[in-house]
Amino acid sequence: MSADGFASGPPPGARADWTIDQDWAGYSPAEHQVWTRLYERQAALLPGRACETFLHGLEALDLHGDGIPDFARVSEDLQRLTGWSVVAVPGLVPDEVFFDHLANRRFPAGRFIRKPETLDYLQEPDVFHDVFGHVPMLTDPVFADYMQAYGQGGLRAMGRGQLHNLARLYWYTVEFGLMETASGLRIYGAGIVSSHAESIFALDDPSPHRIGFDLERVMRTPYRIDDFQQVYFVIPSLDALRETTLQDFGPVYERLKLAEDLPIDRAAPGDKLYSRGSQAYAEAGGRRAKP
Ligand code: PHE
Ligand code: FE
Repeated sequence: MSADGFASGPPPGARADWTIDQDWAGYSPAEHQVWTRLYERQAALLPGRACETFLHGLEALDLHGDGIPDFARVSEDLQRLTGWSVVAVPGLVPDEVFFDHLANRRFPAGRFIRKPETLDYLQEPDVFHDVFGHVPMLTDPVFADYMQAYGQGGLRAMGRGQLHNLARLYWYTVEFGLMETASGLRIYGAGIVSSHAESIFALDDPSPHRIGFDLERVMRTPYRIDDFQQVYFVIPSLDALRETTLQDFGPVYERLKLAEDLPIDRAAPGDKLYSRGSQAYAEAGGRRAKP
């Protein structure tokens, strides 16, 4: 993930491209243990929920529950499969740094891991979210190309002042995307697969809307970073996602300049509704309202 508002360059100890050493040997047994607990819980939950591409990627990379994976080893496997690698960063990095890594088939991942007390909820992406959540999909050639194209498109959107529109595409696909399959809806978004509770909520809860993916519809829809999503978008396939995003976004951005944002809690005319959400969870105040 990326964030803006960085006044200066990389923090002390980081390289010019914001990467650091993962220092795999520096993790404590307790930190490895957190990975293993999270891994085992998700590996048990995700069959039948995550898409086959994700599950195959997880197997192929051998991100088993023995502890936090060594980025060097994961990168070797990824290099062989799709030419991607995983690099360690201290935390969120500036947008242009993030896009430049993606455009060069490098996925920037946090090296720190959440504390056992906050197993279920954190806002800053840690190594579990970044590696367990994102990296399995990068074993797929189509998704791997999509992510690289996103990095290139990010630099372009920045230049045009339309990053807010493009960021929504990332959010509703890479982070919180659902996919239609012959066996039903499946998760491919990293923000969902790395969250136990949202892996259930996104598919089973009556609250959120589930709407067929439409590029401009998505780019007009704000998102929330503090709680479960109120709307998920469903792609027909990864190939279809790549096809729609191959087009030149120039004319799309021109139209978006004139279009208003859409509310996250309501379906819009023309939406293909997989399920119309009750919005009951959000209306009750979400997890913030609960003790
Ligand atoms: N086609 C987009 C453009 O013209 C680039 C892009 C590709 C963006 C894939 C996101 C994902 O800017
Ligand atoms: Fe992420």
